[in-house]
Amino acid sequence: MSTPTDNATPTDDASPVDYAPLVPGTMTAVTARSYGGPEVLAVEEMPVPSPRPDEVLVAVRASSLNALDWHFLTGTPYLMRAMFGLRRPTRIVRGADVAGVVVAVGDDVARLRVGDAVFGEATGGGCGEFLTVKESHVAAIPDGVSFEAAGATPVAGLTALQGLRTHGRVQPGDRVLVNGAAGGVGTMAVQIAKALGAEVTAVCSTRNVDMARALGADEVLDYTRDDFAVGGARFDVMFDGVGNRHPRDCRSVLRDGGRYIAISGPKANRWIDPLPYLVRARLAFMRSDASFHQFTAAANVDDLTFLGELLASGRLVPQIDRVIGLDGVADGLAEIGTGHARAKIVVVP
Ligand SMILES: NC(=O)c1ccc[n+]([C@@H]2O[C@H](COP(=O)([O-])OP(=O)(O)OC[C@H]3O[C@@H](n4cnc5c(N)ncnc54)[C@H](OP(=O)(O)O)[C@@H]3O)[C@@H](O)[C@H]2O)c1
Repeated sequence: MSTPTDNATPTDDASPVDYAPLVPGTMTAVTARSYGGPEVLAVEEMPVPSPRPDEVLVAVRASSLNALDWHFLTGTPYLMRAMFGLRRPTRIVRGADVAGVVVAVGDDVARLRVGDAVFGEATGGGCGEFLTVKESHVAAIPDGVSFEAAGATPVAGLTALQGLRTHGRVQPGDRVLVNGAAGGVGTMAVQIAKALGAEVTAVCSTRNVDMARALGADEVLDYTRDDFAVGGARFDVMFDGVGNRHPRDCRSVLRDGGRYIAISGPKANRWIDPLPYLVRARLAFMRSDASFHQFTAAANVDDLTFLGELLASGRLVPQIDRVIGLDGVADGLAEIGTGHARAKIVVVP
């Protein structure tokens, strides 16, 4: 593992990168040593991790909170504990998003060097001063893109991009419906669909209508007054970040050959939701002329690089509700847990 030797002052802009801090022995991080609500989170000192051969050590400059972090915090659905720790979480520092500076590299790392500004998705650790992440899960932050914008993007941006481009195969001129347009993923989905050349209808609550319009949505439906399934509008793609409707309603707004992209569903049953909804939807679409697509977003350099280009060109501007420190993570995650967080909450350690 190679480490840096200088300690110049960081700037707020990710470029140019002309510094690399000394790596200390310990760091401050937000930990959850058991499953539970925000009350199990603690801000504590712990050792700085060492990168494995295929990993880099990143000095975190910004991260952001995702619904994903709420699932890891609560260990719900319980089914996921089989993979991430049966009795307690195996990775104790929360936070999947990361933007920061590479300060050490594992022996097999070939593409990245100490001093590179990178952003991407880790299996945890974003809510700490340092984290280790696979080299293949981060990409360079383009010149002119801030750490905060880059740190707000990975999980939500990858989910929106892979849903719309990989699974939805959105083409210029397609009509796209985004349900849940005000959330972390939804605010990215509206902008990415526009960047792909689509005509976008966004669904959100009253307080978020102006934001959805400002993101570029051609039409905005306030779900407290308008029902997207009533009125006869037809779409090529429905990107569903909520999963609150009967699959029949979702099918009814799609043209023949349309694509239903499901990333979520009801969460009433803490054991298995949203699995039953996704199975029901898959079965319903099997008997139709539209297709059902459900996926779990995964980090890769190509998609992150594409997101970086969108950020650099201004076609993707992460909507940052607020910036918090590590001591604000518990409140931020509590808000995510309500299911009505607005856009992105960025964490700067
Ligand atoms: N499959 C994957 O790989 C993947 C990846 C990331 C996220 N997800 C899942 O996708 C979902 C969204 O994630 P996120 O990070 O964007 O969550 P989030 O930031 O917490 O956003 C949730 C949003 O849902 C909106 N919403 C709630 N009820 C609604 C309704 N009836 N109609 C329309 N919008 C409604 C809320 O807006 P209002 O306040 O306006 O209601 C809120 O902004 C979560 O369930 C998450 O677990 C899946």
